[in-house]
Parts: sequence; C-alpha cells; structure tokens
Amino acid sequence: MFRYVARSAAGKHLLRRGYATESAPDRKVAVLGAAGGIGQPLALLMKLNPLVSRLALYDIANTPGVAADVSHVNTRSEVTGYVGEDQLGQALEGCDVVIIPAGVPRKPGMTRDDLFNINAGIVKGLCAAIAKYCPNALVNMISNPVNSTVPIAAEVFKKAGTYDEKKLFGVTTLDVVRAKTFYAGKAKVNVADVNVPVVGGHAGITILPLFSQATPKANLPEDDIKALTKRTQDGGTEVVEAKAGKGSATLSMAYAGAIFADACLKGLNGVPNVVECSFVQSTVTELPFFASKVRLGKNGVEEVLGLGPLSDYEKEGLEKLKPELKASIEKGINFANQI
Ligand code: NAI
Repeated sequence: MFRYVARSAAGKHLLRRGYATESAPDRKVAVLGAAGGIGQPLALLMKLNPLVSRLALYDIANTPGVAADVSHVNTRSEVTGYVGEDQLGQALEGCDVVIIPAGVPRKPGMTRDDLFNINAGIVKGLCAAIAKYCPNALVNMISNPVNSTVPIAAEVFKKAGTYDEKKLFGVTTLDVVRAKTFYAGKAKVNVADVNVPVVGGHAGITILPLFSQATPKANLPEDDIKALTKRTQDGGTEVVEAKAGKGSATLSMAYAGAIFADACLKGLNGVPNVVECSFVQSTVTELPFFASKVRLGKNGVEEVLGLGPLSDYEKEGLEKLKPELKASIEKGINFANQI
C-alpha cells in the first residue's frame, strides 16, 4: 500500500510517504542534519535498510525536498521530512536510533577541534531534545569533534536524568572502513575479508588502528604498518584537501554511518554477536570514553571488549594519544557544564 500524507505545521511542510509492509519489528530511525553532505546519502542508505520501518529526516532547512526524493525509493520505510526546531520533537518521538550528522564540516587547514565552537552548541541542543522526546533511543554521534561531542551528549543526558551509557555511541566506523581499505590494498588481500579494529578516538593521532590484529594476516613490514597507520589517521584530511574547501568526507561517511546504524538495529532486534568499534563510555583505559570493539545487543552496548594484544608500536601510539584524547573529553564536559 502506498501512503502519502502532506501536512504543514507552523507554515512549514511535513511530508510523509511510504510503504507499510513486512514483519520485522517496527523501528524508527531519525537522521538529524539530513539535508547535509552526509545526511542526504545517509538518508538514502537508511531508506535501503529493510530493518527500518519509519525514517524521520530532520534539518533546519531543505528537508521536505530530501524527504520527497528519498520517499520514492520502493523500500519498506515510511519517510517523513521535518524542518525547523518546532518540528524536532515530532521527528524524535518514538525513535529507536537517532543518527546525528548535523553541524559544520572541516575546510583545508582545519582540525576537527576547530569545529568545536559551532558544533558543540548544535549537539547540545539536539541532545536536550533527544532527552525530552526519545530518551531511550540509541544515539549515533557523527558530528565532529566526536572526541568532545560524545562527552557533551553524556553531560546533557545526565543533567536531564536520562543518561544510559549503553545508548551513546561516537561513530568511528569510517576509521575502520579506511583501515580495511588501505590494509587490503597494501596486503593485496580481498577487502571484503578484511577486519581491522581501530581504537582510541576520532581525530589525528587519537585514531589508533591495530594492524597487528588485522585479518587475513599479511606480515607486513614495520614501515608499511607505520605508513598505513598514518594514512588511516590522516584519511579525513586527505578528503578535506581533495575537496579543496567544499567540505569533508560525506559519501564514505554516509556508508560508514549506515553500517553502524544497521549494527545498532541488528543488536536491538536480538541478532547475536554484532560487534563494531565505537567511541563509548569505557573502562578499557583510565579515560572515561574510548573507542574499542563493542558488542551490541537489545539495550545498546552489551559488552565493551578489551584491546587484545598490542604490538610495541601500538602500545607507544596508545600512550601518545591519551593526553590529547583526555583534553578533548574534558573540553566537551566543561562546555556542557558551563552556564
Ligand atoms: P554539511 O554542512 O554538508 O551538513 C550539515 C547539515 O547539518 C546541514 O544540512 C545543516 O543545515 C545541518 N544543521 C546545522 N545545524 C543544525 C541543527 N541545529 N539541527 C539540525 N541540522 C543542523 O556537513 P557534513 O559534511 O554533512 O558534515 C556533518 C558533520 O559530520 C560535521 O561535523 C563533520 O565534521 C562530521 N563528520 C564526521 C565524520 C566521522 O567520522 N564521525 C566524518 C566526516 C564528517
């Protein structure tokens, strides 16, 4: 059955279109920042995901067009576009997973931390709304700097009395996607077979790929490992420079975001042994948040997995990243707690 409803709220358009079929559990997913460079392809990829039954696309501008466009794809989910803050509550109500790629991206010469001043405020506002309208949703934080935006989200949720550490995720999947691609190229193995954990955080040297644990094993020389590590850490900057002022990774990020959201949905649906790397509240190191492998389940994080055996080079990288990651986490916490 094809359903089409067009409404308007506060003079703005709300579009709802889609198919009501299939028997997988009803799962509502919202994308906040859905009209952006990441948001649009991510909206499309979530529309292709058969685990999604309702897809809410929210942005401060341009969502009706994106929603109308994506809604014509003949897959399960019903797509609704929401535009402007007065429609944010409706977008969030009943959500199982909220994906946040809202905010400004980097330009050449910028670090992720340079985005802090703008994105911290955006994330804080969106998380306050999540606490109000869908406090039980799994939150997939894409907005940078992830090393700070995840702690900001945690503080906002704590203040609202809704914080559940099992439900807050910094999306670091793109680091894993890059590590897999670069490793497969160097090791000359089939990229589809490759697994590489990436731990730490999501900025520069805080991104620590564990190539010593990469499979299939390739016994690459130390110089190759160092070059692969550097390329994974600088992968975002490689894209920022190639785009020459027109933003950062959007297509590969949308792919990575869709993989992570799919893993969250599978976990919620009770699929066993769903494991992805993510930046979560953690006791793996002395830092309060840390990216590592995480087993996903019906309540979000089922288990934060340890680091496993590290090479000397990785042990060194781990110690080097800690001060930077600690400072970024503290910056986020301080921002969230300032009056
Ligand atoms: P973009 O500028 O193309 O899109 C951002 C969208 O957010 C825009 O449509 C804008 O209207 C919207 N927006 C702004 N304020 C908003 C608010 N208060 N509520 C809802 N939407 C709002 O940027 P792009 O390229 O899509 O990047 C988005 C974010 O993702 C950036 O912070 C970027 O640094 C980050 N990113 C994260 C990666 C990761 O691996 N976690 C990788 C690449 C980018």
